[in-house]
Amino acid sequence: MIDRRFPLSRRAVLAAAAGLGLAATPAAAKRRKEAQAKKGEEAARETAPTGTPLPIPRLVDLVDGETFELVAEATTHAFRKDAPVAAIGYGGTYLGPALRLTRGTTPKIRLVNRLVRPTNLHWHGLLVAGRFDGATSPGIARDAIWETELAVDQPAATLWYHAHVHGRTARDVHDGLAGLLLVEDGTAARLGLPSTWGVDDIPLVLQDRRFDEAGRPLYDDTPASIEHGFHGPTMIVNGVTDAVARVPQRLVRLRLLNAASARDFRLAFEDQRGFRLIATDAGFLAEPAELSLLVLSPGERAEILVDFTEGGGTLLTATDEHEHRSGAQIANLPDVIDRPAKIVVFETVKDKEASATPPARLADLPPLPRTTGDLTRRRFELRVRPNLAAHDLHGAGHGSMTHGTSALDGTAAAPEPPLRLTINDRTYAPGRIDDRVRLGTTEVWEIVTPDMAHPFHIHGAQFRVLSEDGDTPKVWNRGLKDTVRVENSVELLVYFDRPAEAAAPFLYHCHLLEHEDGGMMGTFTVE
Ligand code: C2O
Ligand code: CU
Ligand code: CU
Repeated sequence: MIDRRFPLSRRAVLAAAAGLGLAATPAAAKRRKEAQAKKGEEAARETAPTGTPLPIPRLVDLVDGETFELVAEATTHAFRKDAPVAAIGYGGTYLGPALRLTRGTTPKIRLVNRLVRPTNLHWHGLLVAGRFDGATSPGIARDAIWETELAVDQPAATLWYHAHVHGRTARDVHDGLAGLLLVEDGTAARLGLPSTWGVDDIPLVLQDRRFDEAGRPLYDDTPASIEHGFHGPTMIVNGVTDAVARVPQRLVRLRLLNAASARDFRLAFEDQRGFRLIATDAGFLAEPAELSLLVLSPGERAEILVDFTEGGGTLLTATDEHEHRSGAQIANLPDVIDRPAKIVVFETVKDKEASATPPARLADLPPLPRTTGDLTRRRFELRVRPNLAAHDLHGAGHGSMTHGTSALDGTAAAPEPPLRLTINDRTYAPGRIDDRVRLGTTEVWEIVTPDMAHPFHIHGAQFRVLSEDGDTPKVWNRGLKDTVRVENSVELLVYFDRPAEAAAPFLYHCHLLEHEDGGMMGTFTVE
């Protein structure tokens, strides 16, 4: 099992293995139902005074050939109920609107920057040519405009958009420059999947934050938090703490996005019920997969079907930041280790509609080749190591990466970062092309992570996971993907069918945003 430290996961897996909660005896089902009803009442009592109704991002259908204006601007937002604070976002909301794209159309986007900081915009998971991808742009200044078009040609999927200015992506996404991007191609309707936005098709944007007493989120980029990425002790979903969602008492589809800097979400229901995974990053699976635990690393998405016919439930995440750390390092961590944290409480409401039946088949995935021996192979090694230059410079010699405070003490003339965040021993250099791929080819990319787990993301391409730590990929890594959590090593089969020239190359990078900002990123052309 992938996670020995989270007791819930082991129980959940055993429960799933035994078929509990899915094929229980009638008596057990009745007991469970009663227990659930009671729990539901308790949960309702507990959460009624403090819970925040789950906000649903506004859904906007982009129209072929028409321009949609997205304004990055200052606003206010109440992360905690009744505690509005200054924030930023697209279109005046902390998370921007959910933009829905229809396959076969080419809508246009106009980004307007009303912020002091420079900004750009990247379409994470959208297959567009390099010059529309947005990520290598240094950003536009205040009051400037950037226009692009999105020629949509890929299967239905839950994607997202976010600012991507090098060196400040973590901060910008933290502050609110992110939103959902949906590709629609008619598959969901054909399969009869729940598809009423905000009713039985519910987006959940998962993040973690550290709040001050006034409810202001505090970002912290001390060297320690750069090493393992920013983690906050409080979970937020769609921008709020203590979320309560009202759902119809039937089959509901949840679209999950991990939009955190660094936290892996290890998702399970409090009652350990099973659910069906129907889609990963880049689209539907071939068929639904029964799960009771789902791990999502930063940048990853998933869609699940949850059966609420027997009542509501609570979605939890395990918090286990110390996974790759030594005892000494654990001492520096926030006070949230290993305790399951609530993400959202679901309360059911009766409605007249009949529950959808989950389809047995979902989509046709490209078949995996029987042999990959004739494909080009590349290897990418992601490393986090002390920057010897920084340590020498300050005569530190602590032997611990977390002590290198040179970047923050303000006295260093030219602060050397305390860590070297590298791919194949290089940090990102704009303008340098690291890899050249031939358009229309498929390659095998091997990603290795000797120091800690990293979420690896590729722009402008989709992939399938061939192997994970030398073994069959985990259930949630068996579909089409654009981001994958790499514990030790993965082999990816990457399809390159969008062009990118040297002037606007694609990127591959660690999606732990502090690592990305620190230079764990490379460029490639597809020609
Ligand atoms: Cu989510 Cu390079 O992006
Ligand atoms: Cu991306
Ligand atoms: Cu990383």
